[in-house]
Amino acid sequence: MASSQTLTTLFIISLVSFCYAASGQFKLPKPRAIHLLIRKNEITLQYYTTFESGNSQVPTTIDALIDLGAPSVWFDCTTYVSSSYKRASCGSNRCKKAQGLSYIGCNSTPRPGCSNNTCGIFVYNLARDYSSIQELGEDTMQVYSTDGEYILFTYNVPKFQFACSDSAAVERLPGDHTKGLVGLSRTEISLPSQISSYFKLAKKFAVCLPSSSEHVFGDIFIGGGPYYMPIREDQSLSLVTTPLIVNPNGTARIQSEGDLSNQYFINVKNIEVSGKSVAFSPSLLSFDNNGVGGTKISTTTPYTILHSSIYKPLVKDFVKEASLNNIKRVKYVAPFGACFDPKTAPNTITGPAIPNIDLVLEGSTVRMRLYGANSMVKAKNNVICLAFIDGGSEPTTSVVLGGHQLENYLLEFDLTVSTLGLSSSVLLWNCSNNRKF
Ligand SMILES: *[C@@H]1O[C@H](CO)[C@@H](O)[C@H](O)[C@H]1NC(C)=O
Ligand SMILES: *[C@@H]1O[C@H](CO)[C@@H](O)[C@H](O)[C@H]1NC(C)=O
Ligand SMILES: *[C@@H]1O[C@H](CO)[C@@H](O)[C@H](O)[C@H]1NC(C)=O
Repeated sequence: MASSQTLTTLFIISLVSFCYAASGQFKLPKPRAIHLLIRKNEITLQYYTTFESGNSQVPTTIDALIDLGAPSVWFDCTTYVSSSYKRASCGSNRCKKAQGLSYIGCNSTPRPGCSNNTCGIFVYNLARDYSSIQELGEDTMQVYSTDGEYILFTYNVPKFQFACSDSAAVERLPGDHTKGLVGLSRTEISLPSQISSYFKLAKKFAVCLPSSSEHVFGDIFIGGGPYYMPIREDQSLSLVTTPLIVNPNGTARIQSEGDLSNQYFINVKNIEVSGKSVAFSPSLLSFDNNGVGGTKISTTTPYTILHSSIYKPLVKDFVKEASLNNIKRVKYVAPFGACFDPKTAPNTITGPAIPNIDLVLEGSTVRMRLYGANSMVKAKNNVICLAFIDGGSEPTTSVVLGGHQLENYLLEFDLTVSTLGLSSSVLLWNCSNNRKF
């Protein structure tokens, strides 16, 4: 053993010295795209990633919640130690770029997250519905490159901007070891924006949320395709696209939801059950002058939430179609309104055999078809339910497309042309995989 390890070490050293000798300096190629893993937690129904930050000899590993709608990256700095960390002073260009809000100070011993005359940025903890202003800092982040199939090399992203927060900001964030959050919205300091900009990659990223959690992972690709799912077939070649819509009103008014104009909205034109339109007022699907209405994509919402005036007719139509197909309705299990006996809806490769629900999207013939795996959830033994939630009669956004409905689709957000690319035919492959290093 000892000698074979020595041999391996020698081999690696000679490879490295070969590279040094060949190029004068060991230099990695420019990455084609960057990859982060996504884990699902079955209890919180949230999606997580992991990254490393700080001085490259002893980086800190951060487990963070993924939030498509959040503007920045932030994590608990209480025990963060890194010699390469730098805070942003107020009025600095970094502060302006991050839309820094105010001067912050700190009375205790100086450390990352505790300093005077510092730029503060707004962070929002959705679990506590708690907003706070935290220190804007920067440090080296470590990421991995990919060719769309394998995970390749580690790269440093110097001067990665994030909020170095106190522990109150992360308190009760869902998940076991969650120390922070990774925001993917349109801002300049979101994770994809910073990474694309540093490596000069295309301003696009793709997300594939996994439906299972054990030893399998979903993907975030930053910088574009190919996307081999699971292996070989490049899904970037078969995406259909629909425009990403900007909510006209950045509503600081709605503090808890952040700035809606940085979040991702699409134009759902119609909802169908078994090919028949569900009847509700189409005005609910567009924005009013205050940015109320429309359809948002959200990774932190476990099940799609619908305005009552959409939810009720959808449930009614679905129950009717199910009954025509001899699917037996059973007593509901809250928070779901329509539940069924799974023995009457046998399992197929796309989940329980139930009436399909189609979201008809802007663009010719673009639809997102929700098969049983995405529209139904096992609520308890021998009960499956329609996995949509009644959002009441006055929600800010009429349709909030949630994680369960997004799983096992590849969603590509192209911020240059402002389109959402959607993979078709789900579940023939799925997003739960184990990419090799
Ligand atoms: C910030 O300034 C106050 C008042 O001058 C001082 O007491 C405190 O120690 C300073 N905090 C840090 C982190 O330097
Ligand atoms: C946003 O809403 C406010 C009122 O809440 C209104 O005064 C303003 O004109 C709106 N802006 C846009 C761009 O619609
Ligand atoms: C996902 O697909 C892989 C093979 O492509 C399969 O082995 C696995 O069981 C699937 N997982 C789920 C949850 O469908």
